[in-house]
Amino acid sequence: MKIALFYGTCTGKTEAVAEQIKEELGEAFFTAFEDVSQIEPKDLEKYDVIIAGIPTWDVGELQYDWQDIFDKLDEVDLSGKKVLMFGTGDQAGYPDTYQDAIGIVYDKFVARGAVGGLGFTDATTHEFEESKGCITKDGKKLFVGLALDEDCQPELTEQRVKDWCAQIKAELGV
Ligand SMILES: Cc1cc2nc3c(=O)[nH]c(=O)nc-3n(C[C@H](O)[C@H](O)[C@H](O)COP(=O)(O)O)c2cc1C
Repeated sequence: MKIALFYGTCTGKTEAVAEQIKEELGEAFFTAFEDVSQIEPKDLEKYDVIIAGIPTWDVGELQYDWQDIFDKLDEVDLSGKKVLMFGTGDQAGYPDTYQDAIGIVYDKFVARGAVGGLGFTDATTHEFEESKGCITKDGKKLFVGLALDEDCQPELTEQRVKDWCAQIKAELGV
């Protein structure tokens, strides 16, 4: 199974989280591990599993390098590929658009044929008003991936990453 992790970052927080995920899962887990600014949209077709790390910027917008990929996703066939999201955001500063980016990209990936429903996490340990990254499933409030807040809850990141890595290994059966 070819697994790729691509992260976008403007101030380094999502990159640091990506490195923590790599440390937890081990380098050999990944066929590719890169800053998304270094890839073309078509590169996404090369992998069985895509782990996407995306911070929300500019009040509900995608990080710029992910925006460039997003704009060309209609040219990409993601049929049958498993997608997992992680994001960083700021729940106190942007409570109405908290973690929007993971939701926006997740929805697009699934619309392009990808398999979702993996790596979802409890949203009740975050305080926010609205998020495109949050859904209600079987009565539970969930993020469509791993949501981290390095601005307001940095002390929770390490354990959240550890728990999520164990969760996705089980979900992927690796
Ligand atoms: C101008 C600006 C706009 C932001 N907009 C949002 C937002 O709408 N939603 C959110 O959850 N976080 C928002 N953030 C917080 C960033 O997503 C957060 O700091 C993130 O960890 C940055 O990741 P990076 O360092 O990898 O770029 C914003 C931050 C700034 C400075």
